[in-house]
Amino acid sequence: MPDRVLGIFGHPVAHSLSPLMHNFAAKKRGLQFTYVAFDVEPAQLKNAVAGMRALGIAGVNVTVPHKEAVMQYLDGVDDEARAIGAVNTIINTGGKLTGTNTDGKGFLRALKARKFNPRGKSVVIIGAGGSSRAIGVTLWQAGVKHMTVINRTSAAGKNLVKGLSPFGATTFVPAASSRAGSLLANADLVVQCTSLGMKKDDPLPIRNPAFRGGQLVYDIIYSPVETRFLAAARKAGADTINGLAMLVYQGSESFRLWTGKKFPDEAALAMLKGYLGRI
Ligand code: ATR
Repeated sequence: MPDRVLGIFGHPVAHSLSPLMHNFAAKKRGLQFTYVAFDVEPAQLKNAVAGMRALGIAGVNVTVPHKEAVMQYLDGVDDEARAIGAVNTIINTGGKLTGTNTDGKGFLRALKARKFNPRGKSVVIIGAGGSSRAIGVTLWQAGVKHMTVINRTSAAGKNLVKGLSPFGATTFVPAASSRAGSLLANADLVVQCTSLGMKKDDPLPIRNPAFRGGQLVYDIIYSPVETRFLAAARKAGADTINGLAMLVYQGSESFRLWTGKKFPDEAALAMLKGYLGRI
């Protein structure tokens, strides 16, 4: 049996932690899989997918900016990917390529690990990109009661709200609105899905965010370990969680689909925490 290849298609992709995480897991499970980061230019995406068939690549993750565009090149996508409108995982079964999306499952598992049940809860999502959409669909499917989307650009925010409306009535509020900050304190769960906070000098996604004890504030960023946004929430008494658990749990589900083996969740989390603490 030759070594099997797994990988990730993204652009840029150099900073992805997925190779570290999946190669760690394969070694831990004694599997002959090697996971490679492939920097795929948008114009090469079709060829890259064809290359999976030609080379017998067992499976790949798909990340920004390819998650939506890749769907047209696959033999099929499952209900999860269709609902979210994006693929983050491709499985190669004897040359037949199927797309799924494990981001929502990963997000829900991270909530569950913190003993947070979304059913009946009110939610604010900040951001209107692909991550916001995956999390919005997943939270509606998990039975939340109210959802508000806050975003810098109204057109993108309204577009996301339109996409979420088949799942549940969602409200849009511009990030610059004077109401945006105080809205956060009304929510049981606040999910920060913009890229603001990855760089040290980034401003907050909302100017005067209000937090309270008893709510959970989630930032999908995992590097830095605590964004300014999360630090402000923690100081105001809210519970906080960063994006690392979601990263590990979405990877865990993808790994199981590709290899049929259980991912070493807790060991991978501990390994990545150690790694992020060192960089
Ligand atoms: P992802 O797939 O990770 O969600 P994305 O689709 O590129 O990434 O979405 C990025 C999100 O971060 C968007 O909501 C974007 O807001 P706009 O719709 O206004 O562009 C938000 N974002 C990125 N840079 C931002 C900035 N400097 N200020 C405010 N929001 C920003």
